[in-house]
Amino acid sequence: MAETPGTQTGTETGSAAGADAPAMDPSFFSQLLPFDPFDPAFHADPYAVYHKIREQGPVVRTPAGLVVLTGHAECSAVLRDARFGWGDGATVAEHFSQAPDGTTVRPFLFMDPPDHTRVRGLVSQAFAARRVDRMRARAHELVTELIEAARAEAGDGPLDLMSAVAHPLPAMLLGELLGVPPERYERFRTLSDDIAHGLDPSFFLTPEEVARRDNARAELGEYFAGLAEERRAAPADDLVSELVAAEEAGDRLGGHELLVTLTLLLSAGYATTVNLIGNGMLALLQHPEQRAWLRANPEGVAGAVEEMLRYDAPTQMISRTALEDAELAGSPIAAGEQVMLMLGAASRDPQVYDDPDALVLSRQSTRNLGFGLGAHFCVGAPMARLTAQVAVSALSALDLELETTTPARAPYIIMRGLKELPVRVASGG
Ligand code: HEM
Repeated sequence: MAETPGTQTGTETGSAAGADAPAMDPSFFSQLLPFDPFDPAFHADPYAVYHKIREQGPVVRTPAGLVVLTGHAECSAVLRDARFGWGDGATVAEHFSQAPDGTTVRPFLFMDPPDHTRVRGLVSQAFAARRVDRMRARAHELVTELIEAARAEAGDGPLDLMSAVAHPLPAMLLGELLGVPPERYERFRTLSDDIAHGLDPSFFLTPEEVARRDNARAELGEYFAGLAEERRAAPADDLVSELVAAEEAGDRLGGHELLVTLTLLLSAGYATTVNLIGNGMLALLQHPEQRAWLRANPEGVAGAVEEMLRYDAPTQMISRTALEDAELAGSPIAAGEQVMLMLGAASRDPQVYDDPDALVLSRQSTRNLGFGLGAHFCVGAPMARLTAQVAVSALSALDLELETTTPARAPYIIMRGLKELPVRVASGG
């Protein structure tokens, strides 16, 4: 199953489920998945459900034939193995690949080498550590302004950390990197929300949600087409200009790849970073002793953000198709079978992490799968890390108190995030 960029599992149906599956039919989902995606208990604590699935063994086949992996070793093995990929793209959801003229152009998240290597190479230059590091000072400046503005507006009342910081900070940084002017950010938040929800396979969505997702993609495509035209006429120091130059070099970025790539970057990079900040801050505020540790060890923020990513990952699952016959943990996997990699479960694998359900910010884990692994390892990871580190540093310095211990979750399945995170700032905090 699944679809996401950054969140992407990317596939609409695959061998396990038919495109004509009856929308919202519970028996269909129980055949397809080893969990009930509509159960509020699953959203409240998916990790308890993952542990139950893990008890069934490292390779679980659902009645519909989806291969589900919860183990860190098995997920890592698939991500490192070229026998698993996207092949002819038959399992990639159509809406990811639709170019404005109706032709099909897959974003590089869903490509295999050598095309994947070519497009990824161009994009990853823009995220080079040097360039991203230049954003750090700007991120500090922005987060300080955002917090001041939110506090002034909230007065003595509660404020929503999602609206105050988790949404606008990544929007501003991503906007500046891409070359999108600030007046578009508010609209991009709406479009990104529609896309983030639409990352779940269409058969999980209502017709209205599908329509919102498709309209959001169309509007973004149109917007980026206009922006690319502007940069073609007058290049600036931004990613759109760099990609336009690559497109003009002809053999490097062809057809509608430019537009599809820009839409991918926004849909992969925005909601994921928003949710890392939101999920991470919720975890921090639910664990006062961890917050005390971070305050006493502010230089530990990079490790703390890695632990937040492990503890409650924005991208809970991704997928691949077996391109050849293979074997996983002794189980044969036939060419064409679809494999779901439960990254959220792998991050709580007791074989790899001591006390996996505990948030331990000083844990030095270098094996986090929250950004994926191998050829498709998240190209935006340096930027996401920087954004979250700056947000968490600034917010953990305040005396925040949760207004509710159970803030409302967004109804995503592949992604995991909050609708809002209401807090109070103690005076003087
Ligand atoms: C906390 C934030 C983020 C998380 C949790 C995240 C997660 C991931 C994961 C798990 C993958 C691997 C997908 C797969 O193998 O199927 C991925 C790939 C990707 N991410 Fe991120 N991501 C984040 C932020 C970003 C940002 C900020 C950007 C760009 C602005 C970005 C752009 C991408 C792209 C383009 C890919 C595809 C790479 C490829 O196929 O070679 N991500 N991300």
